[in-house]
Amino acid sequence: MASYDTAKIDAILAKNEYAEANLLAILQDIQAAEGYLPRPALEHVAKSLGISIARIYSMATFYKAFSLKPRGKHICTVCMGTACHVRGAGRILDKIEENLKIKAGETTKDLLFTVERVNCVGACAMGPVVIMDGETIGNATANKINKVINDIKADSKKS
Ligand code: FES
Repeated sequence: MASYDTAKIDAILAKNEYAEANLLAILQDIQAAEGYLPRPALEHVAKSLGISIARIYSMATFYKAFSLKPRGKHICTVCMGTACHVRGAGRILDKIEENLKIKAGETTKDLLFTVERVNCVGACAMGPVVIMDGETIGNATANKINKVINDIKADSKKS
């Protein structure tokens, strides 16, 4: 197994005074630095603080903001609530999955996109709704969303 660079995690632990009381802040800092909570980083935290890995996992899984899997730079969230579903959200999700060659809940290998599905984001009148990087796109169509995705892909190749 490739070794994990713990220097970044040590800096985060030092900033949070190696205190178990600061565990939430430590996990938030790791998530911000890594984009998710890698298992080796959590094992290192457990060892450094002298606490069990189970304690860390129970906190990491309690808060929805944490992810235990790598997430993409761009998050595409498709609303699959009833109002959006009856207006064709399923087809939009299918087309996005086809374009990115992943299923909802997965991340592309290049870590550019994560696709997620949620139930109702409270904007039913605008349905179907897709949220791309926090921006709500109403009256979504497969073409409209795939154009946004393809533009991001093209931009990422330029940089
Ligand atoms: S069902 Fe999609 S916003 Fe309500």
